[in-house]
This record gives sequence, C-alpha cells and structure tokens, in this order.
Amino acid sequence: MLRTHTCGQLRLSDVNKTVTLAGWVQRSRDKGSVLWVDLRDRYGLTQLMFEEAKTSADVISLGRSLGREYVIQVDGVVVERLSKNDKIPTGEIEVKVTKLTVLNAAKLPPFTIEDDTDGGDELRMKYRYLDLRRNPVRESLQLRHKMAQHTRTYLDGQQFIEVETPVLIKSTPEGARDFVVPSRIHHGEFYALPQSPQTFKQLLMVSGFDRYYQIVKCFRDEDLRADRQPEFTQIDCEMSFITQEDILNTFEGLIRYLFKNVKGIDLPEVPRMKYDDAMKLYGSDKPDTRFEMKFVEITELTKGKNFPVFESAELVVGINAKGCSEYSRKQIDELTEYVKRPQIGAKGLVYVQYRTDGTIKSSVDKFYSSEELKQWVERFNAQPGDLMLLMAGEAFTTRKQLNELRLLMGDRLGFRDKNKFSALWVLDFPLLEWSEETNRYHAMHHPFTSPKPEDIKLLDTDPGRVRANAYDMVINGTEVGGGSIRIHDRATQQMMFNHLGFTEAEAKKQFGFLMEAFEFGAPPHGGIAFGFDRLCSIFGGADSIRDFIAFPKNNAGKDVMIDTPSTISDEQMKELGLTVVNTESAKQKA
Ligand code: AMO
Repeated sequence: MLRTHTCGQLRLSDVNKTVTLAGWVQRSRDKGSVLWVDLRDRYGLTQLMFEEAKTSADVISLGRSLGREYVIQVDGVVVERLSKNDKIPTGEIEVKVTKLTVLNAAKLPPFTIEDDTDGGDELRMKYRYLDLRRNPVRESLQLRHKMAQHTRTYLDGQQFIEVETPVLIKSTPEGARDFVVPSRIHHGEFYALPQSPQTFKQLLMVSGFDRYYQIVKCFRDEDLRADRQPEFTQIDCEMSFITQEDILNTFEGLIRYLFKNVKGIDLPEVPRMKYDDAMKLYGSDKPDTRFEMKFVEITELTKGKNFPVFESAELVVGINAKGCSEYSRKQIDELTEYVKRPQIGAKGLVYVQYRTDGTIKSSVDKFYSSEELKQWVERFNAQPGDLMLLMAGEAFTTRKQLNELRLLMGDRLGFRDKNKFSALWVLDFPLLEWSEETNRYHAMHHPFTSPKPEDIKLLDTDPGRVRANAYDMVINGTEVGGGSIRIHDRATQQMMFNHLGFTEAEAKKQFGFLMEAFEFGAPPHGGIAFGFDRLCSIFGGADSIRDFIAFPKNNAGKDVMIDTPSTISDEQMKELGLTVVNTESAKQKA
C-alpha cells in the first residue's frame, strides 16, 4: 500500500511514529520558516509540516510548488502540535515531512473543494467527481451506504431474498412515461426500462419465493422536482400469504430499524390515517405531521350573511396560525399573494385576528357581527393572540390550496425542523382517479391493486368511491413509500383492466403473461416500495434527493458531466432501424 495510515487516523498516541500518508492537498500556508500543508483523504485531514531549518531543501522546495488538489505521498514523523485544532480529530498532531512524492499534479479546480464551496450548481454538476470530494456530499453518500446495509440486514433477518429482475422489459404502468430502448435485432420494436419491477415481483410470488426484496433502479420519464429523478432507486418488496396488517407491521419495522441503527432515534409507533381524513384535516395525502395546524371547517357558520365568496362556496375551511394575531397588514397581504400565485391558484384569503386584548378583527367585518366571529373563533379553539386564515370554494381544490398555506405557515413558525421526524401511514386510498386529460379513470396506485372487497359492488355504479387496499408511508410530508395488496386471480384482474378502459385484446397483449401466471396457482400477495433516495434525503435532513445520488441528472434531466442525452451516430441509428433526424451530422448538413 502507498500509505501506512489514513489522513483521519493519527492521534497523540502516535507521536514519534514514522508514517507514510497519501492524499490530496487541501491548502498550504507558507510562513517562510515553516510550510504547512493540509492533506485530505476520505477519512479526514492531517496537517503536514516542513521546517526551513530541518527539512531538506529539495523537499521543502517541492512542498512549496504543490498546488491545490495535487495527489501526493509523504513520509514523516508524527509530532505534537504547538497550537492544537480541536475541530478535527487529528488536530493534536502534525506530520514532520522527510520525503515528498508528487503522485499526480492537478489543474486548479473550478471551485474550492471545501465544506462551503463557491461553486454554483451547474459547475458542481459538470465536475461532480470533484464535488464528491467535499465532505458534505461524501457524507450523504456514506449515509446512503449505511442505509442500504441496514436495510439488507433487516430484510435478510425477516427471510426476504434479494432477487434481481431485468432492466430491459416491457412497459409497466406506474403512471409516468417509459424510457424506451430500440431493438437492433427487431427493428421497430422497443424494450422499456422498468418504472418499477412490479410485475416481476408478483411473478416471483407465483414462483413461491414468498418474500422478495431488491434495492433497484427504476426509470420514469416525468417532470423533475427536488424529490424526483428520472432514474431513482427503490427498496422494492413483496410478500405472500399476508394481510395488509402484516405488511404495515413488517415495513414499519424496517423504518424503525433504520431510524434506530442509522440515527440512534427510537421512532414511536407509526400512526395511521385514512386517506379521506388526511384530505379533510390536511388537504393532502402526504401531510406533514411534525405540527398540528389541522383544518377547521366552518361552512355552515358562514351562510346567510350575504358575503358572496362564502355564500357560493361548497367549503369554508381554515387554519389557526397560533400566536400570529399581530401580523401586519403587509404580512397578511404577502400570504394572500402567496396563495394567489398561479401554482396555487386561490382567489383570496380571509383572516380573523383574535387579538391579544381579546378583540376580534377580520377582513369580513362588514358581513359578520363580532358575535358571529366569536363562534368561528370558538370552532377553531383559538386563544387571544391567534390568527385564523380561511379559504373557500370547491372542496377538493380549496383543501389543496389551504395545504400549501399550512406548509408555508409551518415553515414560518419553525415547525418543520429537519431534525424532527414524524412518520405516518396513509390508508384506504381510492382505487381509481378521474383524469380530465384522458376523460377516464386511471388506477391511483397501479392496476394490480386490489379493491376493498366491500367496495367492489360500487365499481359499476360509483367507481370514484371504491377504496383500495393501498397504503403510503409519509415522513415529514414526503411520500417515502407506497404499496398495496394485489389482485391474484385472473377474473378480477381482467375486470380491473375493463374498468380502466383496456379492451380484452389490449390487456392480453400487455399483461397476458401476468394473467396467465395467475391461473397457475398464484398465492395471495402484496408489497410495498420505498423511494430509497427520498428516504436517504430525509435521514440526511435535506430538501433535495440530488446529493444522495452519486451522479444525478440536473433539473432539465441532463447529466452535464458526461453530456447526455446526446445524439448517436448515423451508423447506430441505421443499425437500430431509426430514421436519421436531428443528429449532429444532419444538423451540420442542414
Ligand atoms: P410508487 O410509484 O408509489 O410505487 O413508488 C414507490 C416510491 O418510489 C419513490 N419515487 C420516486 N423517487 C424519486 N424519483 C422519482 N421519480 C420517484 N417516483 C417514485 C416514492 C414512492 O413512494 N410498484 C409500486 C410499489 C408497490 O406497489 O409495491 C411503486 O413503484 O418515494
């Protein structure tokens, strides 16, 4: 090995040892009589010392020529430092250099490779391999590694078997677009990259594997957000001969095991909430339960007073921002502007201030007496000092809009602490969801999800009200996982495809293999998949999943480091039977 120790290893107890270290030059400080160089590797930082009087002239002059990020190897003796640095574990010692070898020179990096960098996002992505040298980014990936290790240990302990499923497959409908790969041998035919291994894990249950898991890449061609990447990783799981209760317990177990072993946190039992209640109380199927601020409905209290906005509204609903009664006009206007942004699309905001002196003031004083406002305030269980923020309109939309305001107020009031964790199971999702775009019902989870037996009768009459045996795990307002109990017989699966608007022939062409498998002894089964990147980012206290992925795509879905997506050669296009359009050479010819 090119070293005897790492840069994070040496302590006072090593004083007088002769050592060899190797790593990257973080920075140098030349005081004339002494030259210090900070040497960095994955494990830490060690200070090297060159003394004008004692180090040989060749070595010190080579030391002075070192630039940032040079890769070097040094021999030297460990000595106690005169001025100690209690911020790093090696801060009590330094290494007096006797020999220096430059293993590789380095160009000046395009940004400083330190915890706080001057590099912008694009630059860091272009030189991601340099960004990955920085402690915070490396630590995020180390956390990811630890999470994967503990996940495997837990699942292995529960008899789960890790099985790899193919990446070149046929489309699986998880609601996004597929990435496709053209076939060279079969022109005009395509593989699809899996949006998830859903059908394969179900087939493994038919094969009798009983408990399957895989930490697996999934691919979805959808618009990017902070918590979405076109390729991402799932902890994908499936179990046979189980009920929903067994799944919830097994995977609540996994999450609690991870919190315990990775963060040293005893996560309390994960509460459960029905989808309908989550929508009613939080306006979201992934409520952030780190704080209360539940919705309060006052629709019937507002009627008959000629305030047109409330009069015509299906729902009048609000939140109580505790302690905010003394918000200025300007602050309330800001909140109103916030909810009126096109992304939220509310028409306005009504406020009721229960002032600290006990008086009540509102933006609708013209329409409601103070007695009436008092009733509202009581419904909110408000105290003097509280501010109620109300919205009105069509129920579903209004709730979604108020959810955005609730999250904003949660941020403002410091309730969304990244070091606090609140997990929740959301249960009983609707089976189907109406799409205005395609004018038909789509499976809310996926078409293999079983309806609740007691709701099957509604499929023909009121499909929107059919509930599914489907569940999501939410942590701090992020959907970290979702799954369902599956359909495991051909007739029900066929019926489901019919309801989703597939003709028998289409269903057979796309999923005939699965339906046929159901005829060869399919056990009752169900499962779940966790978004592994999301889980890591929550454990790491970050908003974006990007730094928990070694080489992520940027917001435009590009990898700017390797410059992809990119064109391919005309020869490749021809070989694949694709028409040559828009390639570089076509552009040049044009
Ligand atoms: P679902 O589509 O809910 O279920 O996905 C499971 C979890 O994967 C994460 N996730 C993503 N993470 C990052 N980037 C993305 N683009 C992205 N899309 C999804 C989320 C989500 O909760 N086959 C089913 C699971 C099952 O039924 O067992 C499935 O894929 O955290």
